[in-house]
Amino acid sequence: MPVRPTPFGHIGLFPEQADNWKWLGEASVDQVDAPESLNLFAYTGASTLALARAGFRVAHVDASKPSVESARAAAARNRLGEAPIRYLVDDAMKFANREIRRGRQYHTIVMDPPAYGHAPGGKSWRIERDLWPLLGICFQLMDCRRFRLLVTGHSPQVDQSDVVDFLRQSDFIAGAEAASGLLLDSGRSQLEDAVGRTLDTGFYVRVESRSN
Ligand SMILES: C[S@@+](CC[C@H](N)C(=O)[O-])C[C@H]1O[C@@H](n2cnc3c(N)ncnc32)[C@H](O)[C@@H]1O
Repeated sequence: MPVRPTPFGHIGLFPEQADNWKWLGEASVDQVDAPESLNLFAYTGASTLALARAGFRVAHVDASKPSVESARAAAARNRLGEAPIRYLVDDAMKFANREIRRGRQYHTIVMDPPAYGHAPGGKSWRIERDLWPLLGICFQLMDCRRFRLLVTGHSPQVDQSDVVDFLRQSDFIAGAEAASGLLLDSGRSQLEDAVGRTLDTGFYVRVESRSN
């Protein structure tokens, strides 16, 4: 990844996501007919690259055009310039709704929403208000027999237990759990320095249907 200091106080890469990239790369796509994945709030594109490396077709969605262009350049630097990645400058919610109307289905959905953001055109995103309807939309995009969902976040308004409670109360997740069982893992992501000091960087929730 092209690492550099940015005006936003980060380095162009979020290393605390490393365990998630590993998890994304572990899917055995051979067992999936059309391995499609959706990366919402995709920013640097590191998760997109992990998915593309694992053999997925990827819809990479972010509201910021410069970020989408940087992600495309990062893919080219990783010899994934010809990989089946669709780069979309769009609002996550609008795009997901459109994909339902198009009848599309995804095997893996990744989302890393900010606390506060803006869709192209100005509509605001607030995690505590908008995450729940977005998850509801994503349930409609997934095949309940075979899916993976990764939700991460970095804001105090929502944590892993809020997300797990919401998922467990949804008909989609309850139905999938009753039908074939689920692997559900959640916790805090951390960065660790050379002397073992840790820095909390937010939560993760990983869900996988057992028939994967
Ligand atoms: C926390 S960052 C995601 C970081 C990403 N996981 C990575 O590793 O690079 C949040 C991203 O959400 C985007 N964003 C904010 N509001 C959005 C919206 N309504 N629709 C789509 N993307 C949005 C921002 O442009 C930003 O790139």
